[in-house]
Amino acid sequence: MARKFFVGGNFKMNGSISSIKEIVDNLNKAELDPNVEVVVSPSYLYLLLVRESLRPGIEVAAQNVFDKPNGAFTGEISVSQLKDSGINWTILGHSERRTILRETDEVVARKTKYATENGLSVIWCCGESLEEREAGKTIEVVSKQLAALKAQISDWSKIVIAYEPIWAIGTGKVATTEQAQEVHKAIREWLKTNVSDKVAEETRILYGGSVNEKNCGELSKQPDIDGFLVGGASLKPAFIDIVNCLK
Ligand code: G3P
Repeated sequence: MARKFFVGGNFKMNGSISSIKEIVDNLNKAELDPNVEVVVSPSYLYLLLVRESLRPGIEVAAQNVFDKPNGAFTGEISVSQLKDSGINWTILGHSERRTILRETDEVVARKTKYATENGLSVIWCCGESLEEREAGKTIEVVSKQLAALKAQISDWSKIVIAYEPIWAIGTGKVATTEQAQEVHKAIREWLKTNVSDKVAEETRILYGGSVNEKNCGELSKQPDIDGFLVGGASLKPAFIDIVNCLK
C-alpha cells in the first residue's frame, strides 16, 4: 500500500491575526498537489480562525492537548472541545515540549493514547539531541521514545510519526538525506520488529528540522521519508513549494 505523502506546518507560538490570515489566504489560493495530505498547526488562539477560513481538505491541528475529559484543568486544552471546533489533529511530544515543558516519554505516550482514543489523529514527535547523536545514541533514544508509546497504544492507524533531530530544529542545519533516511529506516524496522509488518508499512514517518523549499526535493526521494513537519518555512509563502515538492 502506498503511503500518502504528508506535509505538516507547525506554526509554533508565532503569528498574529493579520499574518495568520495571510497564510490562510495563500493556502486558499494555491494550487496544491492532491496526492499530498496537508495539516497546519497554528497557536491555540488562532485554531478556530484558521479552521473557519481555510479551504476544506486542509486539516488543522492543535500543538498539544490534555489527557483528561473537560473539567477543572485551568489553562489546558480539551480534546472534546477541539473536536467540537472541527479540529481533528494534534501534534504531541514536540521536542520543545519535552525539553522546555519537561514532558516525559510516558506523559507524551499517555496523551497520545487519550487523543487517539477520543477521535484525534496525532503527529507524534521524536528525535535526539546533538549530544546524543555525537554519542552515537540516536537510535537508542528514538527506540526508547517508541517503546514508551507502544506501552500505551494499540491502534497506530491514527498516528503519523515525525522524526525531528533537535539539533536540526530552527538551526538551518538540515539533516543530510543519508542521516534522515538512516533513522527513518530504523524507525520503520523498529515498528516491524515490535508492532507489526502492517503498521511498519502503513505508518507515515515525517522528517522535521530546517526543511525548506530548497532541500525538500532530495529528502522526499528517500524511501522511508513520507513527508515533512515544517516549522519556520510553514509561515512563508514557500510552504506551498514544500507541499508541492513531489511535482
Ligand atoms: O515541528 C517542526 C519544527 O520543529 C521544525 O522547525 O523551523 O526547523 O522547520 P524548523
